[in-house]
Amino acid sequence: MLVIKMKNKIKEKNLEKKFFEEKGYLILKDFLSEEEVKDLKNMLIDGYNRFLEDEINENNISEVIMKYENNNLHDKLYEAFKYISSSDYFVYIGKKFSKFVKEKFNLDTKIINTGFAIGIKDSKRTAYDWHQEKPYYEKQDTIHLQFPIIYPCSEANGTMSVLEGSQNQGYIKEVKNIKINQKSVNSFVPKNINDLIHIYPEKSFNMSLRDAGVFDQNIIHRTNKNLLNEVRFAGIIRLQII
Ligand SMILES: [Fe+2]
Repeated sequence: MLVIKMKNKIKEKNLEKKFFEEKGYLILKDFLSEEEVKDLKNMLIDGYNRFLEDEINENNISEVIMKYENNNLHDKLYEAFKYISSSDYFVYIGKKFSKFVKEKFNLDTKIINTGFAIGIKDSKRTAYDWHQEKPYYEKQDTIHLQFPIIYPCSEANGTMSVLEGSQNQGYIKEVKNIKINQKSVNSFVPKNINDLIHIYPEKSFNMSLRDAGVFDQNIIHRTNKNLLNEVRFAGIIRLQII
């Protein structure tokens, strides 16, 4: 019985590795525990409470952030973002991801960046156009994780999507720099993106709370438009492969 169980475990591990190598991403069901989901939510709310003067809770957090965004109080939002991004709790999740990568892919890694992305209804300021992570970490090999905080990540709230298998293109050096304005994110968009979107199918990272999505440094991905009044929060861990 134990032998069969162990064999199944090995088979499962190989399937996950094979899927990741072929497609360039992997969605992990129930990667986080219920408790970790709750702690992440509280950490985010506490962080915003520290920098935005309103009394923030899980029921009004989206409303407050949207108010700041619409009143162009981007610096205040950025202060809170920086503070929350450096939380030890992200480091804790990063260590968990690093352990996963060692167990499943047999890779040694270290954390190089933690943080989160927010998606605000009808705002493109914090949304990335098609890009690879590679140009941002040119000198290193990296592997990445996203996971929902507070609300699930869905197509309706603009979850990230990938061009499945596009990591096989390797590092695309011919890029154009897309930045809408000074306070917006900076996307390195491959110059041949209009060809690539016809070659590789687009897959959305639909993730329930507790799920997480792993993705390759060379997979082409983007942020989508949030159609809801709820702000989308996605935690991000970036590991360097050593
Ligand atoms: Fe990205």
